[in-house]
Amino acid sequence: MQNVPQIWAVGGGKGGVGKSTVSTLLAFWLARMGRKTILMDADFGGANLHTLLGIKSPPRTLNDYVSKRYDSLEDLCIDTEVEKLRLICGAGDVLSMANPHVSQKNKIIQNISKLNADYVVVDLGAGTSFNVLDFFLVAHRQIVVLVPQPISIQNAYAFVRNAVYRRLSRLASQQPYLQALIKASMDTENELRLKTICDFLRTVEEFKGQDVATELSNEIQMIKPEVVTNMVNGPKDRNAGKVIQQVAEKYLMIHPVDLGGIVYDKQLNSIISEMMPLTKLLQSSDAYANVYDIAMKLVAES
Ligand SMILES: Nc1ncnc2c1ncn2[C@@H]1O[C@H](COP(=O)(O)OP(=O)(O)O)[C@@H](O)[C@H]1O
Ligand SMILES: [Mg+2]
Repeated sequence: MQNVPQIWAVGGGKGGVGKSTVSTLLAFWLARMGRKTILMDADFGGANLHTLLGIKSPPRTLNDYVSKRYDSLEDLCIDTEVEKLRLICGAGDVLSMANPHVSQKNKIIQNISKLNADYVVVDLGAGTSFNVLDFFLVAHRQIVVLVPQPISIQNAYAFVRNAVYRRLSRLASQQPYLQALIKASMDTENELRLKTICDFLRTVEEFKGQDVATELSNEIQMIKPEVVTNMVNGPKDRNAGKVIQQVAEKYLMIHPVDLGGIVYDKQLNSIISEMMPLTKLLQSSDAYANVYDIAMKLVAES
C-alpha cells in the first residue's frame, strides 16, 4: 500500500520574506536525500514557484484541477530537472483562483494526502485568509518564515494567532456561544477584556464547564509552528524566532519551535532577480547549507 505523504506547509503572513525560496530549497534537499517529493504552489494570488524551477509557462496548473480538466492532483504533477522532485503549479495566471471557493479548496486539501510522495511541501500565499490558514492547519509540519525585522515578527505572530483562532472557530462551528466568544477575543479591544487564549479558556470554563475548556486547550496544543528566520545578517538577527516563541507561549498557550536561521545570500538573491532557476545555486551557498540543517531537523522528527 502507498504511504500517506508528510505535508509540510510554509507560510508566515506577508509576501517577500522568502516563503517560496525556503519551500523550494527544502524540497531540493528532501529530493537529494532520496525522498519522493512534491512541491505544491498554493499561492493562489501570485503563483511563481515554477519560475524558481526554471519553468516559464506551466503546462498545467491547479486551475486545471478545479475546473475538472484533470481528475487527480497526481496528473497535475510536472517533472523537474531535480531527480525525485515534482511540481504542482499554482494558478497565478487565472484570477478566478485568487480566491478559490471553499469546496475547491477543500477538494485540494483532501486530495494532497493521496499523492504518491514521501513529502509534499506546500508554499502558501501571503496573508491570513482562511484559504491560507486551512492549508497551514492540516499540515504535519507548520513552518513559519519571517525576516528579522519588527514588522515581520509582528506579522508572523499575527499569522500564528489567526491560525489558533481559525482552529478554534472550526471546532466551535456548531456552537453559537463559543463562536461569539471567539469573535470577541479576536478583537484586541474587546469589552470582555479577553486578551489572551488563557483569558478566553477561563471564560469558556466559567460558562461551559471544564471539559469543554480542556478539550479546546488540547486542540490548540496540536498547533506547533516551526519558525525559520530568513535573511539573517548577524548573530542578533537569529533571536527573531525566540521572540515568537516567547510571545506565543505567553498569549496563545502554544509552543512554537525555533528551527534556526538562513543567512542573507547575495548569490541567491541575484539568481532570483535574474529569473534563473534556483538549481543554479552553488552547493557552497551558505543559505543552502542553512536549509540543509533545517531539513535535517525536520526529517529527523518525521
Ligand atoms: N536567504 C535569502 N538571501 C537573499 N535573498 C533572499 C533570501 N530569501 C529570499 N530572498 C529574496 O527575497 C525575495 C522574496 O522571496 P520569495 O521567496 O519570493 O518570498 P515570498 O514567497 O515570501 O513572497 C526574492 O527576490 C529572493 O531573492
Ligand atoms: Mg511566494
